[in-house]
Amino acid sequence: MEYLHEPVLLAEVLKYIRSTRGSTIVDCTLGGAGHAEAILDLITPEGFLLGIDVDDVALDAARIKLARFSQQNYSLVKGNFKDLDRILTKAGLYAVDGILFDLGVSSIHFDRAERGFSFRFDAPLDMRMDQSQDLTAAQVVNTYSKDELARIIKDYGEERWASRIASLIVKSRQVHPIRTTFELVDIIKKAIPAPARRRGGHPARQTFQAIRIEVNKEIEILDKSFRDAVKWLRPGGRIVIISYHSLEDRVAKTVLKDLSGGCVCPPGLPVCRCGRKAQLKIVTRKVVRPSPNEIAQNPRAESARLRAAERL
Ligand SMILES: C[S@@+](CC[C@H](N)C(=O)[O-])C[C@H]1O[C@@H](n2cnc3c(N)ncnc32)[C@H](O)[C@@H]1O
Repeated sequence: MEYLHEPVLLAEVLKYIRSTRGSTIVDCTLGGAGHAEAILDLITPEGFLLGIDVDDVALDAARIKLARFSQQNYSLVKGNFKDLDRILTKAGLYAVDGILFDLGVSSIHFDRAERGFSFRFDAPLDMRMDQSQDLTAAQVVNTYSKDELARIIKDYGEERWASRIASLIVKSRQVHPIRTTFELVDIIKKAIPAPARRRGGHPARQTFQAIRIEVNKEIEILDKSFRDAVKWLRPGGRIVIISYHSLEDRVAKTVLKDLSGGCVCPPGLPVCRCGRKAQLKIVTRKVVRPSPNEIAQNPRAESARLRAAERL
């Protein structure tokens, strides 16, 4: 099956990451290499791109997409960007000109039924981006407490009926384990009152999103990963983050704001005691969003938010 994933905010990524001939760039979320390919076009023949992804299918697709470039210009690594320090050290890098995070899952995760991400196909409840990890969606659904499930569905899915859905999941699994996506969809539909079910999109959309975020620990690794990434930028180097969920964007905004702040001494001290210096300058004054045209062509882009900052 072809790996079809339209790179989101491509022109904006190229503008903000400011990669030029000879630059060294890290793409922490390689996916189908849509952004990586366009970056390589700008930085070659001298530049170098390190592409990271946890998903073997993405890495295979990226290898095909990037085959036209010389192997000296790029290297692809299976890994989780939460281990950025280790991955970049192992790759022999010491400072880089740009780091890109295009967070979340790619279209392929939803399009391949057997990965268990989609409420549109019946499949085992899996949802792992990294298929070598232990935790699956089936384990979350069948072993987490009612309170944990309710919190995850509410926080990560922003689902109004989180508590009812969590209660019915726990009740149902006492009869038999919940094994498939369609079994979970049925439970969610039963838990949501009929009038609410008829409003908006698919009733399982938010709960599936929440469980996927939990399985892949998508939010909790971000703060440290962004801070680690900034340390690898050389002065003038840029970090670019595209998020698709308000919680992801909140972490991006908070970290970039924090690292772009200087002295934190209480007002009134004659001299600075904390010695804290700003590490970043934010270069996206307002969060960057896709144009209506891009959203019309690629509905997945709708929730995208881009933030970028430059190392001082
Ligand atoms: C939105 S897609 C990226 C698409 C890519 N920019 C393109 O143009 O094709 C996100 C990719 O990041 C990967 N990913 C998500 N979280 C990751 C993590 N913590 N570490 C490494 N890769 C991750 C996913 O497997 C997916 O392939």
